[in-house]
Amino acid sequence: MATMESLIGLVNRIQRACTVLGDYGGADNNAFSSLWEALPSVAVVGGQSSGKSSVLESIVGRDFLPRGSGIVTRRPLVLQLHQVEGDAQDYAEFLHMPGKKLTDFALVRKEIQDETDRLTGKTKQISPVPIHLSIYSPKVVNLTLVDLPGLTKVAVEGQQESIVQDIENMVRSYIEKPNCIILAISPANQDIATSDAIKIAREVDPSGERTFGVLTKLDLMDKGTNALDVLEGRSYRLQHPWVGIVNRSQADINRNVDMIFSRRKEREYFATSPEYGHLAHKMGSEYLAKLLSQYLESVIRAQIPSIISLINKTIEELEAEMDRIGRPISMDAGAQLYTILDLCRAFERIFKEHLDGGRAGGDR
Ligand code: GDP
Ligand code: NA
Ligand code: MG
Repeated sequence: MATMESLIGLVNRIQRACTVLGDYGGADNNAFSSLWEALPSVAVVGGQSSGKSSVLESIVGRDFLPRGSGIVTRRPLVLQLHQVEGDAQDYAEFLHMPGKKLTDFALVRKEIQDETDRLTGKTKQISPVPIHLSIYSPKVVNLTLVDLPGLTKVAVEGQQESIVQDIENMVRSYIEKPNCIILAISPANQDIATSDAIKIAREVDPSGERTFGVLTKLDLMDKGTNALDVLEGRSYRLQHPWVGIVNRSQADINRNVDMIFSRRKEREYFATSPEYGHLAHKMGSEYLAKLLSQYLESVIRAQIPSIISLINKTIEELEAEMDRIGRPISMDAGAQLYTILDLCRAFERIFKEHLDGGRAGGDR
């Protein structure tokens, strides 16, 4: 019987194939765009420098994102994590550099910066055109994550006045989709009542059913204060539990403190904390990654019937398209159609197996 992990892996592959096909196909790819939108993903939202990119890096367990003070993330980054079997070496691949496997994650970070600059120049401008990146590793859970520019309140020197609204619209275009899981990042050293993340998340998800509240910078709170009211849901109630996080500080980044060390430091922080010790097993970035993966599974499970019917519709449209093209020999487009058709069929088969397995009883 298929495992949920392999289902999520297939979802990732179909999302990627849809993206490739969308690039080639232009306007008349409605079936693919609706398939894409039916598949869940996770977007990170919050104010500038609240720790969004740092949280994503911790979930992935690798150093590869540009981070720092000021506006660093200036284009959306759509990041697909693929869990691979065995103890293979981690590698990354950009959609705009197909076939190029990068094992040096410092180069991944540089390419994100360069690819951002290619559209915006070395400025403080933003662009809504996403960068697509896949990471293959035995150590990740299967997830699609979206890193977004931070919400701001004023345009700074070198930015157009409209940037505040432009960023908000860009963020909203991702998180308003009903299948988007929102990682709402708020720094613990600011009052939760002023959180940009919670404000925009509440707008698109008033019941809080697809919003996960993440509280960063617990280590930077004023002495004598703590975040228990937030973490225990008394300040602002969400349907999912709040997760507290301690990311690397700017000094850690400057000193090149690595991920393994910073994760250990984070675990120790919670385990030895007088305030949060009793919550230690429900805090930290590794716990957050597990929580998200479990939630994604439950979302996909609930959507199986509607995804199957969408895929059937897509298969019909693909077959009609292939009849129209005829037998492509050297055409990229034709080859891509075959690929996505294969993926759709595999997806449908595994979903059905899963459904049958579920009915046969004993499914988990
Ligand atoms: P983003 O703009 O929301 O993507 O935030 P970044 O991840 O780029 O982080 C902004 C700055 O805050 C960086 O200098 C980080 O080192 C720092 N930072 C983020 N999270 C934490 C945290 O939990 N503790 C500390 N001390 N610093 C953090
Ligand atoms: Na920043
Ligand atoms: Mg960022």
